Amino acid sequence: MNPIKTDRLIIRFAQPEDSEAIYYYRSDFIENKYQGWHPDSVEEVREYIKHMPQTFDVADVCLQLVIIRLIDNRLIGDMGIIFSNHDNMQAEIGCTLHKHFQGKGYATEALKAIVDYLFLSLKKHRVMASIDPRNTSSLQLIERLGFRKEGHFKESYFLRGEWVDDIIYAILRREWVGNGR
Ligand SMILES: CC(C)(COP(=O)(O)OP(=O)(O)OC[C@H]1O[C@@H](n2cnc3c(N)ncnc32)[C@H](O)[C@@H]1OP(=O)(O)O)[C@@H](O)C(=O)NCCC(=O)NCCS
Repeated sequence: MNPIKTDRLIIRFAQPEDSEAIYYYRSDFIENKYQGWHPDSVEEVREYIKHMPQTFDVADVCLQLVIIRLIDNRLIGDMGIIFSNHDNMQAEIGCTLHKHFQGKGYATEALKAIVDYLFLSLKKHRVMASIDPRNTSSLQLIERLGFRKEGHFKESYFLRGEWVDDIIYAILRREWVGNGR
């Protein structure tokens, strides 16, 4: 994937040299309490990125893209994408922003661009998100993008020692395109 440019952002595959910036906000347990991945060290992030495929042709691997702010070239967050199912035609997405850069519409802008890319360029069939019901900012974000709530699963996900609920949101290509996006 070539870097994707939006009005205020650049989105590209994470590189090993991004590790320190990613570790800084990803290791913030309070901010990311509903997230599965809290790296213990910069090295853990670097190792993950070093071994991560830099292509969208793989299934069942969380591909990390970074969100760079154009105005100062600063890494402000990341998006994870996992492809699965028939010919990798489905994708699960998630987004994490450094707390100083939340509340400015950056996550909405970045996710809209990547969903556009998945549907319009790669012709994927369905994009979905799995969200902890207590994660209100994430629920608002996915609803702002027009995803449909498809199910609320009771205690279906084991997160750090407890069973937690999981809400699945999704949108199909024809719906995204039909919505004029
Ligand atoms: C989930 C997460 C990325 C959402 O971030 P966010 O800042 O709420 O989302 P956005 O960047 O799209 O910002 C939207 C807010 O910016 C406001 N905003 C300000 N300027 C804006 C602009 N120019 N354009 C659009 N919105 C703007 C919007 O009104 C909205 O405010 P509101 O939440 O009060 O309604 C963030 O909370 C996060 O990183 N959480 C921790 C990680 C996590 O749990 N991720 C979910 C995994 S599935």
